[in-house]
Amino acid sequence: MPGLLDQIEPLKQAAVAELANARDLAALEHAKGSYLGPHGKFTVLMKQLAALSKEERPAAGKLINQVKAELEAALVTRRAELELRSVAPEAPTDFTLPGRRRAIGHLHPLTQVTEDIVRSFRKIGFVVADGPEIEDDCHCFDALNPPAEHAARDTKDTFYLKTANRSLLRTHTSSVQIRVMKSQPPPIRLIAPGRVYRRDNADATHNPTFQQIEGLYVDKNVTVGDLKGTVEFIFRDLLGDEVKVRFRPHYFSYTEPSFEIDFSNPMVRKMGKEWLEIAGCGMVHPQVFENVGYDPDVWTGWAFGFGIERIAMIRYGINDIRLFYENDVRFLKQF
Ligand code: DAH
Repeated sequence: MPGLLDQIEPLKQAAVAELANARDLAALEHAKGSYLGPHGKFTVLMKQLAALSKEERPAAGKLINQVKAELEAALVTRRAELELRSVAPEAPTDFTLPGRRRAIGHLHPLTQVTEDIVRSFRKIGFVVADGPEIEDDCHCFDALNPPAEHAARDTKDTFYLKTANRSLLRTHTSSVQIRVMKSQPPPIRLIAPGRVYRRDNADATHNPTFQQIEGLYVDKNVTVGDLKGTVEFIFRDLLGDEVKVRFRPHYFSYTEPSFEIDFSNPMVRKMGKEWLEIAGCGMVHPQVFENVGYDPDVWTGWAFGFGIERIAMIRYGINDIRLFYENDVRFLKQF
């Protein structure tokens, strides 16, 4: 058997080779244990030092400590390499490749239509007004001069909230008329786009939430002619010169006289109809002016409210309102 000192160098070389070749961190730990662990080959060698003569011992101990330090260093180096490798990508990165573009979506068709309607109204001096979707009885119904037996405020039709003051989700954007008139004097030329809510079951033409645009014009000597001219201008601007608009007498509590607006164009005919009802409108009722503190002997005005989905359906030839709310990308991608 070779002397203890002669065993040191080959053992070191074997250990260094094994550490340097460890394929992963587990193999490295295993190699470390087999040399430096409690029963490791170097540990055993150290113990045998006791058998050496007094003269030989210091030199042998020094050599072994030196080798141990070398092995520790080899271990640290290899561990750092393996750790780096475990987080680095397997293939090298090619920084000259073009970037991967993230697909960018676009505005929802209803938003696009709303923006176009707003743009048309801005051309003739209308500004956009906003109001809350959570409303109270007063702004949604009472101030709009409802008849006593009015059905819309029925809990069957309106979503009421469990709040102390029985707030509700507005059933129409007409509430914004009231809020604006209460907060500023005439003249007024506004539109108010936004969501409204009704307890309707969804079908091809109804959805429990949908969107309206309210219009309000208040000034001196305003006539039905102004109303009709404005409506015609907007729809021609939006949907082309072939648009025809017709007013039919109707009843709304907040206008007198009141009308429903029917709309016709080639797309409506393509959808199998001659006329499509798209809006309600009329001359602002004197009682509404009283309710907001305007003098009905001085001020006149008109108002309208129409459904944005209806207009989008006419524009794009869509026959089911639910498509706007299902968010199926195959539908949305087409706009
Ligand atoms: N608020 C009505 C509705 O939701 C629409 C409407 C009709 C609005 C006549 C008006 C109006 O401003 O004058 O059906």
